[in-house]
Amino acid sequence: MKTAIVGTGYVGLVTGTCFAEMGANVICVDVDRTKIEKLKNGIIPIYEPGLEELVKKNCNDGRLNFTTDLASCINDVDIVFSAVGTPPDEDGSADLSYVLEVARTIGRTMNKYLLVVTKSTVPVGTAALVRKAIQDELDIRNLDIQFDVASNPEFLKEGNAVNDFMHPDRVVVGVESEKAKALLSRLYKPFLINNFRIIFMDVPSAEMTKYAANAMLATRISFMNNIANLCEKVGADINMVRAGIGSDERIGSKFLYAGCGYGGSCFPKDVRALIKTASENDVDLEILKAVERVNDEQKMILFKKLSAYYSNKLSGKTIAVWGLSFKPETDDMRDAPSLLLVDALVKAGCVVKAYDPIAIPEAKRRLGEDHIIFVDDMYDALIDADCLMLVTEWKQFRLPSWAVIRKLMKTPYILDGRNIYDREEVKALGFDYECIGR
Ligand code: UDX
Repeated sequence: MKTAIVGTGYVGLVTGTCFAEMGANVICVDVDRTKIEKLKNGIIPIYEPGLEELVKKNCNDGRLNFTTDLASCINDVDIVFSAVGTPPDEDGSADLSYVLEVARTIGRTMNKYLLVVTKSTVPVGTAALVRKAIQDELDIRNLDIQFDVASNPEFLKEGNAVNDFMHPDRVVVGVESEKAKALLSRLYKPFLINNFRIIFMDVPSAEMTKYAANAMLATRISFMNNIANLCEKVGADINMVRAGIGSDERIGSKFLYAGCGYGGSCFPKDVRALIKTASENDVDLEILKAVERVNDEQKMILFKKLSAYYSNKLSGKTIAVWGLSFKPETDDMRDAPSLLLVDALVKAGCVVKAYDPIAIPEAKRRLGEDHIIFVDDMYDALIDADCLMLVTEWKQFRLPSWAVIRKLMKTPYILDGRNIYDREEVKALGFDYECIGR
Protein backbone atom coordinates (compact mmCIF):
# COMPACT_ATOMS: atom_id res chain seq x y z
CA MET A 1 0.00 0.00 0.00
CA LYS A 2 1.40 3.37 -1.01
CA THR A 3 0.61 6.50 0.92
CA ALA A 4 1.53 10.16 0.61
CA ILE A 5 1.50 12.43 3.64
CA VAL A 6 1.42 16.15 2.91
CA GLY A 7 2.90 18.36 5.63
CA THR A 8 5.87 17.26 7.73
CA GLY A 9 4.93 18.99 10.98
CA TYR A 10 4.37 17.02 14.16
CA VAL A 11 1.34 15.14 12.93
CA GLY A 12 2.49 14.54 9.35
CA LEU A 13 5.99 13.39 10.17
CA VAL A 14 4.91 11.08 12.97
CA THR A 15 2.05 9.66 10.90
CA GLY A 16 4.25 8.98 7.88
CA THR A 17 7.05 7.49 9.93
CA CYS A 18 4.76 5.21 11.94
CA PHE A 19 2.90 3.95 8.86
CA ALA A 20 6.31 3.18 7.29
CA GLU A 21 7.37 1.41 10.48
CA MET A 22 4.27 -0.77 10.10
CA GLY A 23 5.26 -1.71 6.57
CA ALA A 24 3.50 0.84 4.36
CA ASN A 25 5.37 2.58 1.57
CA VAL A 26 5.25 6.26 2.49
CA ILE A 27 6.25 9.47 0.80
CA CYS A 28 6.21 12.61 2.94
CA VAL A 29 5.69 15.89 1.12
CA ASP A 30 6.45 19.43 2.21
CA VAL A 31 6.92 22.72 0.36
CA ASP A 32 9.84 23.63 2.64
CA ARG A 33 12.92 22.55 0.66
CA THR A 34 15.39 22.95 3.53
CA LYS A 35 13.24 20.81 5.77
CA ILE A 36 12.91 18.08 3.15
CA GLU A 37 16.67 18.08 2.48
CA LYS A 38 17.34 17.71 6.20
CA LEU A 39 14.78 14.94 6.54
CA LYS A 40 16.36 13.05 3.68
CA ASN A 41 19.55 13.11 5.73
CA GLY A 42 17.77 11.92 8.84
CA ILE A 43 17.75 15.34 10.54
CA ILE A 44 14.34 16.03 12.02
CA PRO A 45 13.07 19.58 12.54
CA ILE A 46 11.41 18.99 15.91
CA TYR A 47 12.38 17.47 19.22
CA GLU A 48 10.34 14.32 19.71
CA PRO A 49 11.67 11.34 21.66
CA GLY A 50 12.26 8.27 19.49
CA LEU A 51 11.28 9.91 16.20
CA GLU A 52 14.71 10.54 14.73
CA GLU A 53 15.75 6.90 15.09
CA LEU A 54 12.54 5.73 13.41
CA VAL A 55 12.90 8.22 10.55
CA LYS A 56 16.49 7.08 9.89
CA LYS A 57 15.60 3.39 10.11
CA ASN A 58 12.65 3.60 7.73
CA CYS A 59 14.55 5.82 5.29
CA ASN A 60 17.36 3.27 5.23
CA ASP A 61 14.87 0.47 4.70
CA GLY A 62 13.45 2.42 1.75
CA ARG A 63 9.88 2.59 3.02
CA LEU A 64 10.02 6.28 3.96
CA ASN A 65 10.83 8.91 1.35
CA PHE A 66 10.65 12.69 1.15
CA THR A 67 9.84 15.13 -1.63
CA THR A 68 8.79 18.74 -2.19
CA ASP A 69 6.74 17.82 -5.24
CA LEU A 70 3.27 16.47 -4.51
CA ALA A 71 2.36 16.40 -8.20
CA SER A 72 5.24 14.03 -8.97
CA CYS A 73 4.00 11.31 -6.62
CA ILE A 74 0.24 11.75 -6.56
CA ASN A 75 -0.45 9.08 -9.18
CA ASP A 76 1.81 6.54 -7.47
CA VAL A 77 -0.20 6.40 -4.26
CA ASP A 78 -3.55 4.98 -3.11
CA ILE A 79 -4.14 7.35 -0.23
CA VAL A 80 -3.10 10.97 0.40
CA PHE A 81 -3.16 12.29 3.94
CA SER A 82 -3.30 16.03 4.37
CA ALA A 83 -1.56 17.02 7.59
CA VAL A 84 -0.76 20.65 6.84
CA GLY A 85 -1.18 23.43 9.39
CA THR A 86 -4.47 25.13 10.23
CA PRO A 87 -3.18 28.21 12.08
CA PRO A 88 -5.73 30.44 13.80
CA ASP A 89 -7.06 33.43 11.88
CA GLU A 90 -7.25 36.74 13.72
CA ASP A 91 -10.79 35.91 14.82
CA GLY A 92 -9.79 32.49 16.19
CA SER A 93 -11.18 30.39 13.35
CA ALA A 94 -8.93 27.85 11.63
CA ASP A 95 -7.22 29.13 8.48
CA LEU A 96 -7.90 26.51 5.80
CA SER A 97 -5.79 27.99 3.02
CA TYR A 98 -3.09 25.28 3.23
CA VAL A 99 -5.66 22.48 3.41
CA LEU A 100 -7.49 23.79 0.34
CA GLU A 101 -4.29 24.44 -1.60
CA VAL A 102 -3.35 20.78 -1.14
CA ALA A 103 -6.84 19.79 -2.37
CA ARG A 104 -6.46 21.98 -5.47
CA THR A 105 -3.03 20.51 -6.25
CA ILE A 106 -4.52 17.03 -5.97
CA GLY A 107 -7.38 17.98 -8.30
CA ARG A 108 -4.96 19.49 -10.80
CA THR A 109 -2.73 16.41 -10.96
CA MET A 110 -4.63 13.19 -10.14
CA ASN A 111 -5.27 10.79 -13.00
CA LYS A 112 -6.83 7.87 -11.13
CA TYR A 113 -8.96 7.05 -8.06
CA LEU A 114 -7.61 8.54 -4.83
CA LEU A 115 -8.64 8.55 -1.21
CA VAL A 116 -7.93 11.98 0.27
CA VAL A 117 -7.83 11.94 4.05
CA THR A 118 -7.68 15.04 6.21
CA LYS A 119 -5.59 14.56 9.33
CA SER A 120 -5.22 18.22 10.22
CA THR A 121 -7.66 19.48 12.85
CA VAL A 122 -10.31 21.15 10.73
CA PRO A 123 -13.77 22.57 11.43
CA VAL A 124 -16.85 20.55 10.65
CA GLY A 125 -17.66 20.94 6.98
CA THR A 126 -14.07 21.08 5.76
CA ALA A 127 -14.23 17.69 4.03
CA ALA A 128 -17.04 19.08 1.86
CA LEU A 129 -14.83 22.06 0.94
CA VAL A 130 -11.94 19.72 0.14
CA ARG A 131 -14.23 17.62 -2.05
CA LYS A 132 -15.42 20.74 -3.90
CA ALA A 133 -11.88 22.09 -4.40
CA ILE A 134 -10.77 18.79 -5.94
CA GLN A 135 -13.93 18.47 -8.07
CA ASP A 136 -13.61 22.06 -9.35
CA GLU A 137 -10.09 21.31 -10.61
CA LEU A 138 -11.21 18.05 -12.22
CA ASP A 139 -14.07 19.91 -13.93
CA ILE A 140 -11.60 22.45 -15.33
CA ARG A 141 -9.62 19.52 -16.72
CA ASN A 142 -12.83 17.94 -18.03
CA LEU A 143 -12.07 14.71 -16.24
CA ASP A 144 -14.47 12.31 -14.58
CA ILE A 145 -12.32 10.60 -11.96
CA GLN A 146 -13.73 9.01 -8.81
CA PHE A 147 -12.26 9.99 -5.48
CA ASP A 148 -13.20 9.84 -1.82
CA VAL A 149 -12.62 12.26 1.01
CA ALA A 150 -12.29 11.06 4.60
CA SER A 151 -11.47 12.51 7.98
CA ASN A 152 -8.98 10.85 10.31
CA PRO A 153 -8.21 13.23 13.18
CA GLU A 154 -5.00 12.63 15.10
CA PHE A 155 -4.90 12.47 18.89
CA LEU A 156 -1.15 12.12 19.52
CA LYS A 157 0.48 14.19 22.24
CA GLU A 158 3.75 16.02 21.70
CA GLY A 159 6.56 14.42 23.66
CA ASN A 160 4.87 11.02 23.44
CA ALA A 161 3.90 11.19 19.80
CA VAL A 162 5.44 7.97 18.47
CA ASN A 163 4.11 5.90 21.34
CA ASP A 164 0.65 7.47 21.05
CA PHE A 165 0.56 6.76 17.33
CA MET A 166 1.79 3.19 17.63
CA HIS A 167 -0.48 2.39 20.58
CA PRO A 168 -3.57 4.56 20.15
CA ASP A 169 -6.58 4.28 22.47
CA ARG A 170 -8.66 4.45 19.32
CA VAL A 171 -8.52 5.60 15.73
CA VAL A 172 -11.42 7.75 14.57
CA VAL A 173 -12.25 7.64 10.88
CA GLY A 174 -15.01 9.50 9.09
CA VAL A 175 -15.83 8.00 5.68
CA GLU A 176 -18.39 8.40 2.93
CA SER A 177 -17.93 5.11 1.06
CA GLU A 178 -17.23 1.42 1.64
CA LYS A 179 -14.15 1.71 -0.58
CA ALA A 180 -12.64 4.39 1.65
CA LYS A 181 -13.50 2.32 4.72
CA ALA A 182 -11.79 -0.74 3.24
CA LEU A 183 -8.63 1.18 2.31
CA LEU A 184 -8.26 2.74 5.74
CA SER A 185 -9.06 -0.54 7.50
CA ARG A 186 -6.23 -2.12 5.56
CA LEU A 187 -3.75 0.65 6.32
CA TYR A 188 -4.50 0.56 10.04
CA LYS A 189 -4.71 -3.23 10.23
CA PRO A 190 -1.12 -3.80 11.43
CA PHE A 191 -1.91 -1.66 14.46
CA LEU A 192 -4.70 -4.06 15.45
CA ILE A 193 -2.07 -6.27 17.03
CA ASN A 194 -1.98 -3.64 19.74
CA ASN A 195 -5.71 -4.17 20.32
CA PHE A 196 -6.86 -0.68 19.60
CA ARG A 197 -10.30 0.12 18.27
CA ILE A 198 -10.97 1.75 14.95
CA ILE A 199 -14.20 3.72 15.11
CA PHE A 200 -15.85 4.45 11.78
CA MET A 201 -18.39 7.24 11.56
CA ASP A 202 -19.63 9.91 9.20
CA VAL A 203 -17.23 12.68 8.21
CA PRO A 204 -18.72 15.64 10.17
CA SER A 205 -18.80 13.52 13.34
CA ALA A 206 -15.12 12.64 12.92
CA GLU A 207 -14.24 16.30 12.39
CA MET A 208 -16.22 17.25 15.50
CA THR A 209 -14.74 14.43 17.60
CA LYS A 210 -11.28 15.97 17.51
CA TYR A 211 -12.47 19.37 18.71
CA ALA A 212 -14.76 17.87 21.32
CA ALA A 213 -11.92 15.71 22.70
CA ASN A 214 -9.49 18.61 23.02
CA ALA A 215 -12.19 20.91 24.39
CA MET A 216 -13.20 18.30 26.99
CA LEU A 217 -9.58 17.85 28.11
CA ALA A 218 -9.05 21.62 28.31
CA THR A 219 -12.28 21.86 30.31
CA ARG A 220 -11.03 19.30 32.83
CA ILE A 221 -7.85 21.31 33.31
CA SER A 222 -9.57 24.67 33.74
CA PHE A 223 -12.12 23.04 36.04
CA MET A 224 -9.33 21.63 38.22
CA ASN A 225 -7.50 24.97 38.22
CA ASN A 226 -10.71 26.67 39.34
CA ILE A 227 -11.23 24.11 42.11
CA ALA A 228 -7.53 24.38 43.07
CA ASN A 229 -7.85 28.12 43.61
CA LEU A 230 -10.85 27.48 45.84
CA CYS A 231 -8.99 24.71 47.70
CA GLU A 232 -6.33 27.23 48.71
CA LYS A 233 -8.92 29.53 50.24
CA VAL A 234 -10.74 26.84 52.21
CA GLY A 235 -7.72 24.86 53.37
CA ALA A 236 -8.21 21.85 51.09
CA ASP A 237 -5.49 20.11 49.05
CA ILE A 238 -6.10 19.74 45.30
CA ASN A 239 -3.84 16.67 45.15
CA MET A 240 -6.06 14.86 47.60
CA VAL A 241 -9.20 16.08 45.87
CA ARG A 242 -7.76 14.83 42.57
CA ALA A 243 -7.04 11.40 44.03
CA GLY A 244 -10.51 11.38 45.55
CA ILE A 245 -12.43 12.21 42.40
CA GLY A 246 -10.08 10.52 39.91
CA SER A 247 -10.73 7.11 41.45
CA ASP A 248 -14.35 7.38 40.32
CA GLU A 249 -14.32 5.46 37.05
CA ARG A 250 -16.85 7.84 35.57
CA ILE A 251 -14.33 10.68 36.03
CA GLY A 252 -11.03 8.86 35.55
CA SER A 253 -7.66 9.95 36.88
CA LYS A 254 -6.01 11.51 33.81
CA PHE A 255 -5.83 15.19 32.91
CA LEU A 256 -6.84 16.37 36.35
CA TYR A 257 -3.59 18.09 37.26
CA ALA A 258 -3.91 21.68 38.41
CA GLY A 259 -1.08 23.94 37.37
CA CYS A 260 -0.17 27.29 35.89
CA GLY A 261 -2.32 26.83 32.80
CA TYR A 262 -2.44 24.78 29.64
CA GLY A 263 -0.67 25.75 26.41
CA GLY A 264 0.57 24.11 23.24
CA SER A 265 -0.40 24.04 19.62
CA CYS A 266 -3.78 22.39 20.11
CA PHE A 267 -5.81 23.18 23.22
CA PRO A 268 -5.79 27.00 23.00
CA LYS A 269 -6.24 27.02 19.21
CA ASP A 270 -8.93 24.34 19.12
CA VAL A 271 -10.94 25.79 22.01
CA ARG A 272 -10.98 29.17 20.27
CA ALA A 273 -11.88 27.63 16.90
CA LEU A 274 -14.74 25.62 18.40
CA ILE A 275 -16.16 28.72 20.10
CA LYS A 276 -16.00 30.44 16.72
CA THR A 277 -17.70 27.59 14.84
CA ALA A 278 -20.40 27.51 17.50
CA SER A 279 -21.08 31.24 17.30
CA GLU A 280 -21.30 31.02 13.50
CA ASN A 281 -24.00 28.44 14.05
CA ASP A 282 -25.83 30.50 16.69
CA VAL A 283 -24.73 28.27 19.53
CA ASP A 284 -23.22 29.92 22.56
CA LEU A 285 -20.52 27.61 23.96
CA GLU A 286 -20.53 29.32 27.34
CA ILE A 287 -18.56 26.57 29.02
CA LEU A 288 -15.68 26.86 26.60
CA LYS A 289 -15.56 30.63 26.89
CA ALA A 290 -15.11 30.16 30.63
CA VAL A 291 -12.48 27.46 30.04
CA GLU A 292 -10.45 29.92 28.01
CA ARG A 293 -10.90 32.77 30.49
CA VAL A 294 -9.92 30.61 33.45
CA ASN A 295 -6.81 29.47 31.59
CA ASP A 296 -5.77 33.01 30.68
CA GLU A 297 -6.00 33.95 34.35
CA GLN A 298 -4.24 30.79 35.49
CA LYS A 299 -1.22 31.60 33.34
CA MET A 300 -0.71 34.66 35.58
CA ILE A 301 -1.20 32.83 38.88
CA LEU A 302 2.51 32.55 39.69
CA PHE A 303 3.01 36.22 38.95
CA LYS A 304 0.10 37.12 41.24
CA LYS A 305 1.50 35.00 44.06
CA LEU A 306 4.95 36.56 43.61
CA SER A 307 3.47 40.08 43.64
CA ALA A 308 1.57 39.34 46.84
CA TYR A 309 4.68 37.86 48.50
CA TYR A 310 6.71 40.96 47.71
CA SER A 311 3.80 43.41 48.32
CA ASN A 312 3.88 44.45 44.66
CA LYS A 313 7.50 45.61 44.92
CA LEU A 314 9.06 43.47 42.22
CA SER A 315 11.43 45.94 40.61
CA GLY A 316 15.02 44.69 40.82
CA LYS A 317 14.07 41.20 42.06
CA THR A 318 15.90 38.30 40.46
CA ILE A 319 13.57 35.50 39.43
CA ALA A 320 14.76 32.05 38.40
CA VAL A 321 12.43 30.33 35.93
CA TRP A 322 12.70 26.56 35.51
CA GLY A 323 11.00 25.25 32.37
CA LEU A 324 9.87 27.31 29.38
CA SER A 325 8.27 24.84 26.94
CA PHE A 326 4.50 24.40 27.23
CA LYS A 327 5.05 20.95 28.73
CA PRO A 328 7.99 18.57 29.30
CA GLU A 329 9.70 16.55 26.55
CA THR A 330 9.18 19.17 23.85
CA ASP A 331 10.82 22.40 22.72
CA ASP A 332 7.43 23.72 21.63
CA MET A 333 6.66 27.16 23.08
CA ARG A 334 3.36 27.79 21.32
CA ASP A 335 0.96 29.43 23.80
CA ALA A 336 3.29 28.34 26.61
CA PRO A 337 2.34 29.81 30.01
CA SER A 338 5.99 30.88 30.40
CA LEU A 339 5.60 33.45 27.60
CA LEU A 340 3.06 35.60 29.45
CA LEU A 341 4.73 35.01 32.77
CA VAL A 342 8.23 36.04 31.70
CA ASP A 343 6.79 39.04 29.90
CA ALA A 344 4.98 40.15 33.06
CA LEU A 345 8.14 39.66 35.15
CA VAL A 346 10.21 41.74 32.75
CA LYS A 347 7.57 44.49 32.66
CA ALA A 348 7.55 44.54 36.47
CA GLY A 349 11.29 45.25 36.42
CA CYS A 350 12.52 41.80 37.48
CA VAL A 351 15.74 40.25 36.32
CA VAL A 352 14.72 36.91 34.81
CA LYS A 353 17.16 34.00 34.73
CA ALA A 354 15.65 31.20 32.72
CA TYR A 355 16.58 27.57 32.20
CA ASP A 356 15.00 24.86 30.06
CA PRO A 357 16.59 21.55 29.04
CA ILE A 358 15.88 22.06 25.33
CA ALA A 359 13.56 25.00 24.61
CA ILE A 360 16.10 27.83 25.10
CA PRO A 361 16.74 28.47 21.37
CA GLU A 362 12.99 28.63 20.77
CA ALA A 363 12.50 30.80 23.87
CA LYS A 364 15.19 33.23 22.68
CA ARG A 365 13.40 33.48 19.36
CA ARG A 366 10.07 34.24 20.97
CA LEU A 367 11.08 36.28 24.00
CA GLY A 368 14.24 37.99 22.77
CA GLU A 369 17.27 38.32 25.00
CA ASP A 370 17.00 41.92 26.12
CA HIS A 371 15.89 41.48 29.71
CA ILE A 372 16.27 37.74 30.13
CA ILE A 373 19.39 35.84 31.05
CA PHE A 374 19.25 32.34 29.61
CA VAL A 375 21.47 29.86 31.44
CA ASP A 376 22.77 26.42 30.45
CA ASP A 377 22.64 24.89 33.91
CA MET A 378 19.52 24.76 36.04
CA TYR A 379 21.44 25.78 39.17
CA ASP A 380 22.99 28.84 37.49
CA ALA A 381 19.51 30.34 37.28
CA LEU A 382 19.36 30.36 41.09
CA ILE A 383 22.36 32.55 41.81
CA ASP A 384 21.11 35.46 43.97
CA ALA A 385 17.51 34.64 43.06
CA ASP A 386 14.63 36.05 45.09
CA CYS A 387 12.30 33.31 43.88
CA LEU A 388 12.42 30.03 42.00
CA MET A 389 9.44 29.58 39.71
CA LEU A 390 8.84 26.05 38.50
CA VAL A 391 6.81 26.47 35.30
CA THR A 392 7.32 23.21 33.35
CA GLU A 393 7.70 19.90 35.16
CA TRP A 394 10.73 18.44 33.37
CA LYS A 395 11.90 15.24 35.09
CA GLN A 396 15.29 16.70 36.00
CA PHE A 397 13.59 19.27 38.25
CA ARG A 398 11.92 16.64 40.40
CA LEU A 399 14.79 15.71 42.69
CA PRO A 400 17.01 18.78 42.91
CA SER A 401 19.76 19.28 45.46
CA TRP A 402 17.97 21.44 48.00
CA ALA A 403 21.19 22.25 49.85
CA VAL A 404 22.71 23.72 46.69
CA ILE A 405 19.52 25.64 45.93
CA ARG A 406 19.41 27.03 49.47
CA LYS A 407 23.01 28.17 49.21
CA LEU A 408 22.61 29.85 45.82
CA MET A 409 19.36 31.73 46.36
CA LYS A 410 19.22 35.14 47.99
CA THR A 411 15.68 34.58 49.24
CA PRO A 412 14.64 30.94 49.80
CA TYR A 413 11.25 31.22 48.12
CA ILE A 414 9.79 28.64 45.76
CA LEU A 415 6.72 28.98 43.58
CA ASP A 416 5.84 25.54 42.28
CA GLY A 417 3.52 25.95 39.29
CA ARG A 418 3.11 22.20 38.74
CA ASN A 419 2.83 20.86 42.29
CA ILE A 420 5.86 18.59 41.93
CA TYR A 421 7.46 19.15 45.33
CA ASP A 422 6.55 17.86 48.75
CA ARG A 423 5.35 20.92 50.60
CA GLU A 424 6.32 19.71 54.10
CA GLU A 425 9.79 18.58 52.97
CA VAL A 426 10.57 21.88 51.25
CA LYS A 427 9.27 23.95 54.14
CA ALA A 428 11.28 21.90 56.63
CA LEU A 429 14.41 22.79 54.65
CA GLY A 430 13.76 26.46 55.33
CA PHE A 431 12.08 27.54 52.12
CA ASP A 432 8.94 29.60 51.77
CA TYR A 433 6.89 27.43 49.46
CA GLU A 434 3.73 28.08 47.49
CA CYS A 435 2.09 25.89 44.90
CA ILE A 436 -1.27 25.51 43.21
CA GLY A 437 -4.32 24.56 45.21
CA ARG A 438 -2.66 23.28 48.36
C1 UDX B 1 -3.12 17.64 23.10
C2 UDX B 1 -4.01 16.39 23.22
O1 UDX B 1 -3.68 15.69 24.43
C3 UDX B 1 -3.79 15.48 22.02
O2 UDX B 1 -4.68 14.39 22.09
C4 UDX B 1 -4.07 16.28 20.74
O3 UDX B 1 -3.80 15.50 19.61
C5 UDX B 1 -3.21 17.54 20.70
O4 UDX B 1 -3.43 18.31 21.89
P1 UDX B 1 -0.51 18.22 23.45
O5 UDX B 1 -0.88 19.63 23.09
O6 UDX B 1 0.69 17.61 22.82
O7 UDX B 1 -1.75 17.23 23.11
O8 UDX B 1 -0.27 18.19 25.01
P2 UDX B 1 -0.98 17.59 26.32
O9 UDX B 1 -0.10 16.58 26.93
O10 UDX B 1 -2.38 17.22 26.08
O11 UDX B 1 -0.93 18.89 27.28
C6 UDX B 1 -1.59 20.10 26.92
C7 UDX B 1 -1.44 21.14 28.01
O12 UDX B 1 -2.24 20.81 29.13
C8 UDX B 1 -0.02 21.29 28.55
O13 UDX B 1 0.27 22.67 28.70
C9 UDX B 1 -0.06 20.60 29.90
O14 UDX B 1 0.86 21.16 30.81
C10 UDX B 1 -1.48 20.90 30.32
N1 UDX B 1 -2.02 19.91 31.27
C11 UDX B 1 -2.20 18.61 30.89
C12 UDX B 1 -2.40 20.32 32.55
O15 UDX B 1 -2.26 21.49 32.92
N2 UDX B 1 -2.94 19.39 33.40
C13 UDX B 1 -3.15 18.09 33.05
O16 UDX B 1 -3.67 17.32 33.89
C14 UDX B 1 -2.75 17.69 31.76
